[in-house]
Amino acid sequence: MKILIAEDDYVSRLLVKKAVGKSGHDIIEAENGRLAWELFLEQSPDMVISDWMMPEMDGITLCQKIRASGKKAYSYIILLTAKDKMTDLVEVFDAGADDYIVKPFKPDELRSRIKTGERIIHLERSHHQLQEDLILQNGKLDEALRELKITQGHMLQSEKMASIGQLAAGVAHEINNPIGFIGSNLEALKDYMEDVNEILSRYQKLGRSLAGPAEKSLSAEIKEALKAIRQFEEEKDLDYLKKDIPELLQDCKEGTRRVGKIVADLKSFAHPGNDRQMLVDINKGLESTLNVVYNELKYKAAVTREFGDIPRVEGFPQKLNQVFMNILMNAAQAIEEKGEIRIETKKEGDNVVVSVSDTGCGIKEEHLSKVFDPFFTTKEIGKGTGLGMNMAYNIVKEHKGKIFVQSTVGKGTTVTVSLPGKTG
Ligand SMILES: Nc1ncnc2c1ncn2[C@@H]1O[C@H](COP(=O)(O)OP(=O)(O)OP(=O)(O)O)[C@@H](O)[C@H]1O
Ligand SMILES: [Mg+2]
Repeated sequence: MKILIAEDDYVSRLLVKKAVGKSGHDIIEAENGRLAWELFLEQSPDMVISDWMMPEMDGITLCQKIRASGKKAYSYIILLTAKDKMTDLVEVFDAGADDYIVKPFKPDELRSRIKTGERIIHLERSHHQLQEDLILQNGKLDEALRELKITQGHMLQSEKMASIGQLAAGVAHEINNPIGFIGSNLEALKDYMEDVNEILSRYQKLGRSLAGPAEKSLSAEIKEALKAIRQFEEEKDLDYLKKDIPELLQDCKEGTRRVGKIVADLKSFAHPGNDRQMLVDINKGLESTLNVVYNELKYKAAVTREFGDIPRVEGFPQKLNQVFMNILMNAAQAIEEKGEIRIETKKEGDNVVVSVSDTGCGIKEEHLSKVFDPFFTTKEIGKGTGLGMNMAYNIVKEHKGKIFVQSTVGKGTTVTVSLPGKTG
């Protein structure tokens, strides 16, 4: 143990030194308060035995300064005093001293006081250590809890994707059947209508050939019937119907094709089998993701896409779709009334670069560095979890890619994802 002795009187100092020396401690000496304070700062003694009355700085001030210094390890302080009135003692303890000895003292008494001090130092220090350990453990617990919440949030998102996939697979199965027969019926209808049209044309031709001089030879009854047919034909605009029916059938066919595509996209967007690593066509992934979230975007933004000729990317299609979904949803949510979302893909060196630009509210400069932090959100409580971009960041990192954000408040934001393309 290191003991600092602060005492201006040479004889008293010697006496203290003698009492302390026998117990085998290291001794530092100071002949006034100021020097004692300097030595305290420099050497951090475990114990300070200080006289009360000293030149330059008295023992009480020294005591106060030590307690105010905020030193981590506890130093035990014994004040030597010639006074022992109750009011004096209050001052001693108020200043932060642990003990006092009235001069003149017996060396044995000082030694036993030092022993008590040693025990208290030990207790204080283990208490302090315990506290520090506790704070550390608490910190670790907090960190673990935070990690858990992030993982839980990510899992929830992935689970959502998986259930979309399952749901889509079920719906797709149910829809595919009727879509199938509607499609083939439309095809047959188209053929039938061609024949019906042909028959109608021939009847029309016949009708027309009966008009004029030939009409005289017809019975009044047939003439009447022919007139009624011509009138009805005019009323219903048969020529228009003949032209329009095939067009309508064509539109219906296009409609069934689109329904089929949406279902297929939904399936491929989050199909359970798509969670395996494979070669991914990013343009296709974007297309199917767009179809899935289109309902969320269409009221907010005109979507333009400029898809380039890009190599495939090795990775997990479902996860990558999730990245695009989060980015597209953010873009739509950033647009207050009506705006634009532009999706561009291109090849840059060996990389596939996808950028999604919106004309939304933009991101404040001080928020830019936080966008990828878990739980960072500027959305109302209950609206955003703040995990979307964090998840996107993790997935892009897992694919050895990069993601970054450029933004101007009031103008809009561009999120760029760059992924290594599969070459060769
Ligand atoms: N395109 C964007 N335009 C403006 N701000 C954006 C854009 N993308 C992200 N941000 C900002 O970054 C924050 C974090 O985005 P993130 O997707 O991680 O969480 P969120 O959208 O708030 O919630 P969640 O995605 O869980 O619903 C958003 O709250 C928003 O402030
Ligand atoms: Mg989001």
